[in-house]
Amino acid sequence: MSEEKEMTFYEAIHKASSSITRFPLIPVRGVPLMNYIANNWDSIWAFRPDPSDLLIAAYPKAGTTWTQEIVDLLLHNGDAEACKRAPTPVRSPFLEIVSPPPIPSGLDLLEKMDPPRVIKTHLPFQLVPPGFWENKCKSIYVARNAKDNLVSYYYFDLMNQTQPEPGPFGGYIHKFMQGELSWGSWYDHVKGYWLEREKRNILYLFYEDMKENPRREVERIMKYLDLSVSDEVVSQIVELTSFKNMKENPMANYSCVPSPVFDQSISPFMRKGEVGDWKNHFTAEQSKLFDEDYEKQMKDVDIPFRTLI
Ligand code: A3P
Repeated sequence: MSEEKEMTFYEAIHKASSSITRFPLIPVRGVPLMNYIANNWDSIWAFRPDPSDLLIAAYPKAGTTWTQEIVDLLLHNGDAEACKRAPTPVRSPFLEIVSPPPIPSGLDLLEKMDPPRVIKTHLPFQLVPPGFWENKCKSIYVARNAKDNLVSYYYFDLMNQTQPEPGPFGGYIHKFMQGELSWGSWYDHVKGYWLEREKRNILYLFYEDMKENPRREVERIMKYLDLSVSDEVVSQIVELTSFKNMKENPMANYSCVPSPVFDQSISPFMRKGEVGDWKNHFTAEQSKLFDEDYEKQMKDVDIPFRTLI
């Protein structure tokens, strides 16, 4: 069954190969989104989740897949085989994604699943369908420091053949600062969820905390979900969701997306998984300029990001 599902997803993407291109971005309420998403915006906005559904939200490349894997394992009491039933985007659909047919959209996959479902989104807070808040769904937000997030996104844009060309790294920094990348401004994204976290009961996580002490963060997620798994199972989940194990796990490493879309020979989806890789990419001058702009863009909030641990 799981093999059949995986093949179906993989094959659907293969079949759509000739329609794959670096899709242009179209703004939706000022946020640049892939044209396929923008053109289907009304049905995404109208999505009504079940109150038992869980939302996992993040700016792209902040640790979404890692969080999805931890949650799936917690929901299956650490059962590694159960969590290999299908690849990540089938187990935990990507709410807003729309791609050329016959690739199923996020809404297509969700329609076929019974709640409670674990739903991924990269939408900024203001674009999350209001049904999530009306139904008081639980939601987990994962945030990653801006510089590492940018570097990770740069490599992703090189390899993801549906995203706009990233161009040279120096210019990419400017696009990031100006919020011109898909899903818009990192600054607005992390702030939007931060400001709503108490009112909406959002569990706000940091990638750096997960790297520093994965056990502590797995336990935080467990408590938030009102689950209780044994200490032994927590240890097992920490182990199964290490960078190394997820990189080798075909149900977590996005090998389910064939090379006409994700060309992992350019850069693997599970690339480095570290805090502080930005140091290998930003020049001293770029870093200074970025920091000065960061101060301005983030002056109205105090979100405890760490660029090193
Ligand atoms: P890098 O490009 O810095 O390696 P997302 O899932 O939101 O797209 O985020 C992808 C980023 O998270 C990539 O960062 C990826 O390597 C990293 N990642 C995925 N699983 C991880 C894990 N188990 N531990 C640490 N980092 C992980």
